[in-house]
Amino acid sequence: MLRKIAVSGCGNVGTALLELLCEKRAELKEKYGFEFEVTLISDLFKGTVADKNGLDLNAAINSLHTTNSLTGLNKDVRGEFGELLDSAEVNMLCEATPTNVETGEPALSHIKAALSKGIDVSTTVKGPLSLAYDELVALAKQNGAQLQFEGVVMSGTPFITMLNHGLAGCRILKIEGIINGTTNFILSKMYSGASYEEAFNTARELGYTETDPSGDIDAWDPAVKVVILTKMLYGKEISVSDVDRTGIANVTFEDMERAKEDGCTIKLIAGIENNHGDIKAYVAPKKIPMTHPLASINGAINAATVYTDNLGTTTIIGPGAGRRATGQAMLLDLLTMAGKK
Ligand code: HSE
Repeated sequence: MLRKIAVSGCGNVGTALLELLCEKRAELKEKYGFEFEVTLISDLFKGTVADKNGLDLNAAINSLHTTNSLTGLNKDVRGEFGELLDSAEVNMLCEATPTNVETGEPALSHIKAALSKGIDVSTTVKGPLSLAYDELVALAKQNGAQLQFEGVVMSGTPFITMLNHGLAGCRILKIEGIINGTTNFILSKMYSGASYEEAFNTARELGYTETDPSGDIDAWDPAVKVVILTKMLYGKEISVSDVDRTGIANVTFEDMERAKEDGCTIKLIAGIENNHGDIKAYVAPKKIPMTHPLASINGAINAATVYTDNLGTTTIIGPGAGRRATGQAMLLDLLTMAGKK
């Protein structure tokens, strides 16, 4: 079956996904029998292009790199998002517009439009899942569509797949880890002697930060991830305000120096504890000894330790942010969804 893919949002992640699809077309067909065309690419600022027979991916990527727009393709279209999905005959949507954690928009409307048409959705956008998880899962079910979101936590490191599939049959008692790449990058650089500003600017250049970087610095991003994980694992409706949240804005160079003198480092630690249905969720900078397993997790690498009844503890470590790593999350979602239909 030929998949017709829409990519919504051409920032770091959407563009990286286009690059991966282009680069791996032959490998995806040979190894997974995954054949596709990208028939719609839409970005609020860079333009919207469509061709139900398939867009020229090389041309799209080139146009994004050279002009930061899609107009070079001469395939411009206009219209309401649902209509565009119809006319481009889309059966898989990759939603990667910037996260708005207050409204979930525009991603929330895009995802609803697609699911209600029976279109499978992969998203890396956290807002819609933290605000409307149950509604979206129900909509997918009603319409025989699939909803995958590997990239919302730990980018392409398959943490969501591990929780949902690898640990099937286990009860998850507690999760503790580093689940924001930007702040871990900044804190690691500060540990090595860099200033906060220097570290922050490099993180931004490398594409780790949220569109609004306060999402990282003030720990909204890991708090929203905690909300999504809590909903996914325990079916509990908590909001971001229920997460005990402290960011890294007040961690100074001197704090880090003092921690070092004590044989410690400072890490932004997120956790979820389930005490017989009573959920405690938090994100906060913590001083931890260098012997602690999370102390050696540096840069934009994330790690999460999962405490279970059947397996004891299991730790997953891998990239937590970055354009190609998050593009990989969407590629995994596409292959997962294709394998189930
Ligand atoms: N800004 C996020 C981070 C991106 O730094 O972890 C990945 O969710």
